[in-house]
Amino acid sequence: MARRQVGRDSDPDLREYLLAMAKAKHGALRFTRLRLRNWRNFDDLDIRLGARAFFVGPNASGKSNLLNVFRFLKEIATLGSGGLQAALSERAGFAAVRNLNARKPSDVEIEVEVGTESHPALWQYLLRLNLHKKQPTIIEESVRHAGSEVKTRKIGPDDDAFLFA
Ligand SMILES: Nc1ncnc2c1ncn2[C@@H]1O[C@H](COP(=O)(O)OP(=O)(O)O)[C@@H](O)[C@H]1O
Ligand SMILES: [Mg+2]
Repeated sequence: MARRQVGRDSDPDLREYLLAMAKAKHGALRFTRLRLRNWRNFDDLDIRLGARAFFVGPNASGKSNLLNVFRFLKEIATLGSGGLQAALSERAGFAAVRNLNARKPSDVEIEVEVGTESHPALWQYLLRLNLHKKQPTIIEESVRHAGSEVKTRKIGPDDDAFLFA
């Protein structure tokens, strides 16, 4: 039987089946935590998300920037969306997304936990972005399930940018 991968390029039926299985076993999955470094106006953010979350703040405090992270994650994960490069172009490029006051190390870091009420950190996804040889790319990406590493990749100094990312 052909080996099938779960992820961006996976079979939608298989993905749906796995999601249904996870739901049956653990209850509905939702984002339970968001951690950001250098995303837009957020230099360092780490919040737990309840079943219902409200973001309240004055104009230009970052409500839209925060919500936009979830759209960004959806865009880079959606098959045929153009992936990372398209998601960044849509936002006027990496320099516009990265916190303007970012100091070194100036990676943009997005980390989310996805889980249920009883297992809030069932899935962890980490994405670190930066310029590499002048090209915005994924510096590090990792998926953990129940604390164990499922997938990880890190760019090395001699690697080319992950153009497929
Ligand atoms: N890359 C960036 N670095 C720093 N600040 C940024 C960056 N991109 C946008 N901002 C700032 O974020 C603010 C807008 O936040 P926004 O999410 O639209 O606020 P709200 O939705 O709460 O009104 C503006 O002050 C803008 O200057
Ligand atoms: Mg807004």
